[in-house]
Amino acid sequence: MIGRLNHVAIAVPDLEAATAVYRDTLGANVSAPQPVPEHGVTVVFVNLPNTKIELLHPLGENSPIAGFLAKNASGGIHHICYEVEDILAARDQLVNTGARVLGDGNPRIGAHGKPVLFLHPKDFCGTLVEIEQI
Ligand code: CO
Repeated sequence: MIGRLNHVAIAVPDLEAATAVYRDTLGANVSAPQPVPEHGVTVVFVNLPNTKIELLHPLGENSPIAGFLAKNASGGIHHICYEVEDILAARDQLVNTGARVLGDGNPRIGAHGKPVLFLHPKDFCGTLVEIEQI
């Protein structure tokens, strides 16, 4: 069901410092910071030849990554995103196997303008999983 790895999202307490690590230390191609208010984050995209890394920093009062950073002060991997062809079919197949979909179970439009769902980390080896319809 899942296809390519679309991105790995890393929550960071200092977006400028994290961007500098990827740009200057690791020599990667990085985007300008992009505010995504509807998801409560500012994102820097690190473009790699085969996938993307997304550096996430909280934006606004109720950022979904604020709690994660409170527990992981120096930042850390927040979620990984796999591509699927049909998100509703993927959701139904996952639910049928007993996996838990977060929220109301309906896809939302994600940071790339495509439908996404998040899956419960306890069902996926302790990792928050995002699926995105490509
Ligand atoms: Co994501």
